[in-house]
Amino acid sequence: MPSKLSLVTATLAAIFASTAPAQIPANCSRMYEVVADDTCDIISAAQNVSTFQLAHVNAAVINPDCTNLWVGEVTICLGLNGQDCTSTHKIVSGDSCWDIFVTEGIDLATLLANNPNVDNACSNIYPDEVICTASEVIAYDP
Ligand SMILES: *[C@@H]1O[C@H](CO)[C@@H](O)[C@H](O)[C@H]1NC(C)=O
Ligand SMILES: *[C@@H]1O[C@H](CO)[C@@H](O)[C@H](O)[C@H]1NC(C)=O
Repeated sequence: MPSKLSLVTATLAAIFASTAPAQIPANCSRMYEVVADDTCDIISAAQNVSTFQLAHVNAAVINPDCTNLWVGEVTICLGLNGQDCTSTHKIVSGDSCWDIFVTEGIDLATLLANNPNVDNACSNIYPDEVICTASEVIAYDP
């Protein structure tokens, strides 16, 4: 006999399953199931996906302020085959791009190419942002 909790879970699952499913690209390299209290920064940090990549891959389903994670999508795609940066660094207070490229051993041009959301002076990074620290330039689709 199912417990009340599992009935609630099953009911919620049915509700979410019946709303519009997120469009998972056919060439998705990894998927993630959104849980309560997730934010884009939390997902990025926990799943090693850069802030840029999460937003880029999900441009059609997650709004720029990332306030609609629960509206319709439960499963989201974190990266695409061939365009998936899995080396990441979570910005902490006081970090600079200099620290990052020294610590990670990558050059600034690569860092900036893989994180188009970071300005050329690297003045707009912020704590909890996750940046891609891959040593190769990833050819993201426009
Ligand atoms: C993210 O990276 C860290 C550090 O390399 C690792 O310990 C952790 O298992 C990774 N998490 C996932 C979900 O890949
Ligand atoms: C993924 O598929 C889309 C649509 O078919 C295509 O436009 C895109 O170039 C593909 N990306 C990769 C990384 O294969």
